[in-house]
Amino acid sequence: YPIFAQQAYENPREATGRIVCANCHLAKKPVEIEVPQSVLPDTVFEAVVKIPYDKQIKQVLANGKKGTLNVGAVLILPEGFELAPPDRIYPEIKEKIGDLYFQNYRPNQKNILIIGPVSGQKYSEIVFPILSPNPATNKAAHFLKYPIYVGGNRGRGQIYPDGSKSNNTVYNASATGKVSKIARKEKGGYQITIDNPSDGRQVVDFVPPGPELLVSEGEFIKADQSLTNNPNVGGFGQENAEIVLQDPLRVQGLLLFLASVVLAQIFLVLKKKQFEKVQLVEMNF
Ligand code: HEM
Repeated sequence: YPIFAQQAYENPREATGRIVCANCHLAKKPVEIEVPQSVLPDTVFEAVVKIPYDKQIKQVLANGKKGTLNVGAVLILPEGFELAPPDRIYPEIKEKIGDLYFQNYRPNQKNILIIGPVSGQKYSEIVFPILSPNPATNKAAHFLKYPIYVGGNRGRGQIYPDGSKSNNTVYNASATGKVSKIARKEKGGYQITIDNPSDGRQVVDFVPPGPELLVSEGEFIKADQSLTNNPNVGGFGQENAEIVLQDPLRVQGLLLFLASVVLAQIFLVLKKKQFEKVQLVEMNF
């Protein structure tokens, strides 16, 4: 969950560029982000994050039963950009947002937004309403090209913040030996006893309800061999995009320049026409 990242990491993006969700959501799956190529200062725009997956698919839940997937995302905007205040969001964008509730990663870091977990059936496409900064009033903002980073996840993680495994991952044998006993536990899951023939020691491995067993009693297995399948059907992905904070004066300047070029061309043509007339008159003499 994004809250796990908030609790464990000061900054959701590591120095290597890796977004921290990937530390616990081990499978890699794609995400997409769409933002305008450029925005004017103090303007509301949308950043669309897509977390695609097969909606038919089910995952193992914490109780071992199967259920639908949830999604979540973290959006790392340039300094000065922030969530648009509700009264400035256009009705068209509001409609697309639905009843999503975005949060700041840290109260004082308004440029990093998080969302989730929310239903993946409904929100595999998430629209973030963003407000661009105004360099006239915000000295930290400049008319530049900026990177935007996004991390998006569908499905449950493999590791809890305390380091323990969730039941949405593969379980491995902790010793080499013969599987002497597989006991089914009352609440689901298995207790697997492995006898090591070389030193006569016994090791017991536990598998929680969820993953499917791949070994059977009497089988000889190696340490680290998978005891179960990997039930994880979800995954995390990260992407980046670029956005230009555009100075309206520059756009106006460009338009003026283009207009002057067009006018100059027209006048050159007119001048040529006029000159042609003079030539014609001169020929008649
Ligand atoms: C569950 C997103 C960071 C561990 C989830 C779910 C979402 C999510 C959407 C619910 C999945 C579902 O119910 O189908 C994210 C995002 C993160 C992030 C966007 C980064 C901003 C982390 C971190 C950890 C973690 C850092 C580990 C410390 C887990 C675990 C679950 C989970 C163990 C399953 C919980 C359970 O059902 O018992 N996460 N997560 N996540 N996440 Fe994350």
